[in-house]
Amino acid sequence: MLRRLHSSPRSPRREPGCCTHKRLRPRWRSRLLLLLAATATCAESPRENVLTVSGSALGTEAEVLRTQVARFAAQHPGWEVEIRVTPDAADQRHQLYVQWLNAHAESPDILQLDVVWTPEFAAAGWILPLDAFEPPVDSFFDASIAANHWNGRLYALPWFVDVGMLYWRTDLMSDPPATFDQLTAAAADAQAAGVVYGIVWQGARYEGLVTVFLEFLSGMGGRILNEDGSVALESEEARRALTAMRDQIFRDGIAPEAVLTWQEEQTRFAFQNGRAAFLRNWPYAYALMSDSSESEVAGLFRVAPMPASPAGEPSATLGGAQLAVNAHSRNPEMAYALVAFLTQREQMLERAQVVGQFPSRHALYDSAELAQALAIPPAQARAVIERAVPRPVTPVYTELSAILQIHLHRALTRQQEPDAALGAAAREIRALLERTRLTPGEPAASAAGAAKTDVRPAEEPPPASAADTALHASRVAGEALP
Ligand code: GLC
Repeated sequence: MLRRLHSSPRSPRREPGCCTHKRLRPRWRSRLLLLLAATATCAESPRENVLTVSGSALGTEAEVLRTQVARFAAQHPGWEVEIRVTPDAADQRHQLYVQWLNAHAESPDILQLDVVWTPEFAAAGWILPLDAFEPPVDSFFDASIAANHWNGRLYALPWFVDVGMLYWRTDLMSDPPATFDQLTAAAADAQAAGVVYGIVWQGARYEGLVTVFLEFLSGMGGRILNEDGSVALESEEARRALTAMRDQIFRDGIAPEAVLTWQEEQTRFAFQNGRAAFLRNWPYAYALMSDSSESEVAGLFRVAPMPASPAGEPSATLGGAQLAVNAHSRNPEMAYALVAFLTQREQMLERAQVVGQFPSRHALYDSAELAQALAIPPAQARAVIERAVPRPVTPVYTELSAILQIHLHRALTRQQEPDAALGAAAREIRALLERTRLTPGEPAASAAGAAKTDVRPAEEPPPASAADTALHASRVAGEALP
């Protein structure tokens, strides 16, 4: 059994590093701007024989990463590894990366990417194709590997897999709800018994809102894009999904209006302080909320799939982190060596044990050690991952998501009716896809709109398999994968 590391989840320790910005808390916009300015300088001055790796440091993530990079450095005398802490919120980290990479910064050498960013970063020429290093792609879940391809090449290795789950209180009910109606009834009962909130989820206007919406949407039997890449948001299922989210707040009063400003951590705190009967969150929350020195509900909760309507299926959004190599890294071979090390079986297992995050290598799900680490039995986790719903795979995902975020949030704040909001989102996404439809050799808009980059690879390798061919074709057309 590997050593379990400790840190305070309320105030994750930040790495001391090359710039003072690391002491700033990236919660406020003005502070983020300072952070961006400071890190831009920092990112441009790599030192010899020093690798920099950037990523999130939520809860125990920082501790396990520190341990693992120290282990890597010990195995590679003469090399140092520095951790460049970035904001926990996906959108803020994305903004920071775009600044760095668009300026061709040589550092960080290794980037922790959200599963939805790889096509964008690859199309912009910001990250290196990894095929030449011959990574063991067959060991990883297919969906995660597929999400890391662009134009037939692999650009990142899956580090851990996130799936959205329903945390429920075992002291308030004997079984989790299977349908949205059952959830509403159980949440209302819990509130009648004195629990402040029925359910909390991530409803702020950011990427997390899209992941929650996708779970309601798939649970109702709907989707964002059809298999042919056309927009599927003007559907009865989508209207029901968005209406159900809004009704949880304003009709049934089971979700507090405050969720409209909450991200992952605010919802975790509400649940771990005993104020909510249900929480929608990723696996990382499990280990933190099981720590009785921090959590009032340690031992009093379990996880289940999100509910569904009879027309849909219980669904988890596919999330998670990938590791990519900066195209301007001075040490790409060593950078890849660290990526390979961090995605090895042992490191993944340790991360699962310390942080509770789900490994991205499927073979690990047969290991007895994993059973002790995860919130749910590994076989069940594997089944959830294999059925998890991906977000559209396209280099313009960030823009697509930004459109969705605006209109979903307008509907949830009752500035627009769900129908109107979905209609507007569908029109704008359609226009975006038309405008940026990629054909080989045509310029792709970077997600931030910051750069126009030729996406034609220097030499286009023939796709390796039928699956690759389909992948290649759909990506080139800018369409969603089936
Ligand atoms: C988690 C997921 C990521 C998702 C984000 C939204 O970090 O791993 O895929 O985009 O949450 O907040």
